[in-house]
Amino acid sequence: MRIKAPAKIDRKLTTTTIQTKQPRLSAEQVAKINKSLEGASAQKILEWALKELHPKIALASSFGLEDVTLIDMMVKINPKARIFSLETGRLHQETYDVMDEIKDRYNIQIEVFFPDASRVEKMVREKGMNLFYHSVENRKLCCGIRKVEPLNRALSQLDGWITGIRKDQTQNRTAARYVEIDTDHGNIIKVNPLLDWSLDQVWAYVRQNKVPYNILHDRGFPSIGCEPCTRAIQPGEDPRAGRWWWEQDNKECGLHVKGGH
Ligand code: ADX
Ligand code: SF4
Repeated sequence: MRIKAPAKIDRKLTTTTIQTKQPRLSAEQVAKINKSLEGASAQKILEWALKELHPKIALASSFGLEDVTLIDMMVKINPKARIFSLETGRLHQETYDVMDEIKDRYNIQIEVFFPDASRVEKMVREKGMNLFYHSVENRKLCCGIRKVEPLNRALSQLDGWITGIRKDQTQNRTAARYVEIDTDHGNIIKVNPLLDWSLDQVWAYVRQNKVPYNILHDRGFPSIGCEPCTRAIQPGEDPRAGRWWWEQDNKECGLHVKGGH
């Protein structure tokens, strides 16, 4: 099914307000696409997405295990497939290392989005460098400025995005579908090819295809975000226990769930 040209999306570059337009695909069309992709491999789902929307679709990559898997698959389907990354300014050195390794291995350019400098300056002047530890409100403010606003900016140029979310990562993600109308981002198309994969399957793909990966995964970090907000986990702990570990029930930052929780 061919997707029609999008209505121009006018998004406000704030952390909270995005103008919603007419959905580009009806709920029935999306249901039909998902049905036709049932049981399809992640590569097939990517092929569908790239055929429909390239060059107006890109992978959002944090260079975690799922994302490097998708990069390997995408580049093999289309060497010009687009990849963007949100550089919060607080990532681990090991994340920068794998970004460069991936860039060199696949001979690709990564579209890096930085937060708005004046917003970061205002935030840290008023609340300090480590504001996120002081309150949930501060943490959400920081995620809003360093991640969500740059994401909105990145998505404002696209008709679709691809993510590495998997159903078994968080409660919120169990309801996700391969193909969705992303109502939080102006009704663009969101594609989640690894939704049904287990972490073991992702590891198997990475090893089999010798995909460069973040070395922190070998040091007890199954899920990697910003350095001050991610710690290693102990055996038996929830894989996301190391994300915003000082908070009880906030394991989302607003990229995939509006409002950051
Ligand atoms: S988060 O919302 O909790 O930070 P998570 O780390 O699980 O997200 O990653 C899920 C997916 O979100 C990734 O597979 C990737 O598609 C996207 N993502 C997360 N962080 C970034 C980032 N810094 N830049 C681009 N995409 C990201
Ligand atoms: Fe800020 Fe932490 Fe969110 Fe990164 S994860 S944007 S450092 S609060």
